[in-house]
Amino acid sequence: MEDPVRRILATLPGHDRDLFSLRLERSERDLFDPLHRLYGHQPGYDEFVDALRLALARHWVERPLDLRALDLRRDLNPDWFLSERMVGYVFYIDRFAGRLRDVLDHVDYLEELGVTYVHFMPCLKPRQGESDGGYSVQDYGAIDPRYGTLEDFEAVTEALRARGISTCIDLVVNHTAKEHAWAEAARSGSARHLAYYRMYDDPTIPQQYESTLLEVFPDQAPGNFTYYDDLGKWVWTTFNEHQWDLNWENPEVFLEFVEIMLTLANRGAEVFRLDAVAFMWKRMGTICQNQPEVHDILQALRAACRIAAPAIIHKAEAIVPPTDLLAYLGTGRHTGKVANLAYHNSLMVQFWSSLASRDTALMTHVLRSHFPPGHRHATWGTYLRCHDDIGWAVTEEDAGAVGLDGGAHRAFLADFYEGLFPGTFAKGWRFQHNPTTGDRRTNGTLASLSGLERALEDGSADGVDTAIARILMGHALIAGWGGVPLLYMGDELGMLNDYGFAAKGELDSRWIHRPAMDWTTAARRTDPSSVAGRIFTGVQHILRTRKATPHLHGNVP
Ligand code: GLC
Repeated sequence: MEDPVRRILATLPGHDRDLFSLRLERSERDLFDPLHRLYGHQPGYDEFVDALRLALARHWVERPLDLRALDLRRDLNPDWFLSERMVGYVFYIDRFAGRLRDVLDHVDYLEELGVTYVHFMPCLKPRQGESDGGYSVQDYGAIDPRYGTLEDFEAVTEALRARGISTCIDLVVNHTAKEHAWAEAARSGSARHLAYYRMYDDPTIPQQYESTLLEVFPDQAPGNFTYYDDLGKWVWTTFNEHQWDLNWENPEVFLEFVEIMLTLANRGAEVFRLDAVAFMWKRMGTICQNQPEVHDILQALRAACRIAAPAIIHKAEAIVPPTDLLAYLGTGRHTGKVANLAYHNSLMVQFWSSLASRDTALMTHVLRSHFPPGHRHATWGTYLRCHDDIGWAVTEEDAGAVGLDGGAHRAFLADFYEGLFPGTFAKGWRFQHNPTTGDRRTNGTLASLSGLERALEDGSADGVDTAIARILMGHALIAGWGGVPLLYMGDELGMLNDYGFAAKGELDSRWIHRPAMDWTTAARRTDPSSVAGRIFTGVQHILRTRKATPHLHGNVP
């Protein structure tokens, strides 16, 4: 029988066929070794491998010419994203610009700041109503209609690319919205789709898991399972009730995501932010995070892209303790093979911890003992704030090593940034208080947490100066630490907390630090007498300095 892969590739000119074969050869082991470990024991594994090969070939054949040229450029320079010239900028499309095409009206602004990478916060079609800020995806094949269409996406990413800006989008891999077509099919009894999720007929097994699981949203979504009358089943729902955890033990789920990823890659996405990856594999008796299989899945997803769309890189979103974080840049057999970027959550936490305690002992200890330099084909995404809350991830061991009590220090940080601790400069809000563990997290913008809001209220010129100094020091830290600095929209202007979020119908208080862009203030960005002007020009200077410092290339240890 004729090999279907060969038949598909036969439609291509010879050199494009060769390229596919060469890339397959290069990444074959990186792809199939982990897949064999994950799924090799299951009946139907050979058919799965055939289907995967076919999908890779098909997407390569469909890949537009300009993106194939980009692939070639990045084959020649696979470490492009490690460059000291990289600067990331993160925003919600509506809050930054309006609709997708309106983003193009602000490219001058991005260029002025030095941005080479934009992260569109969740932009695929979410469920209606509450959607966890778009992280409850109903359709991975469509753009959120509030923002535009896939054609708009294609046009915008192409225009950005022409200006030297790569586009990053979220790919929510741990769960789908319960309204996703797979979930709907499961609901109507499709055995195939029931196996895409983690469902249980009675509560015994969920209860066993629950005894070691943590809770991500103890306030708004306690527990990790939800019972549905119509299904007669318990469904694994780590985050919110409407977000159903996928079953990555099922190779069909892997195949589906390869399809999704490569489709979006062929439309112009260049970076995938793989959401909540720590949770992808479950193991009884554990907290079901950071399991070794997660790194196998991430390696296989990346290898699939290196074969069919090698311009793509992956960023892992794993907000985990310092001891588990490094593995997301690849350690042991996964060295240089898992995510290209991972959020440096510890650097972020330690920045805030040091600011509050006026002491760098804990920061120095944590960064020295858990984060050796010298990654292969990978680096950190460094950041001060993002759209999420800050979890005070300080372990007992690390605190103890510098003479602190872990619980007491975490409580101090939560109090300090909630504005409760005497003498604090910060104005933030409490998030997800868990009375059982005492855990409390914090919301607030960079500027409000850094003291700008309070100083402006007090009319304190000294306070304003100090807050600006904190903000710029933070930017210097993320620009100089090693990795791609990821600026959160508005932080370059010192935007303050948005207390009006509830009135706009948002229940989740993380919206306090997701304000809409203040273009009136932005218009004064070069005015040295304005607060925003001082911050903007300061940040701009830091980023220019970064770009002029080749030592900051990720390959320099
Ligand atoms: C990630 C996102 C967060 C979301 C969660 C569930 O952590 O950053 O905003 O709530 O995943 O998708």
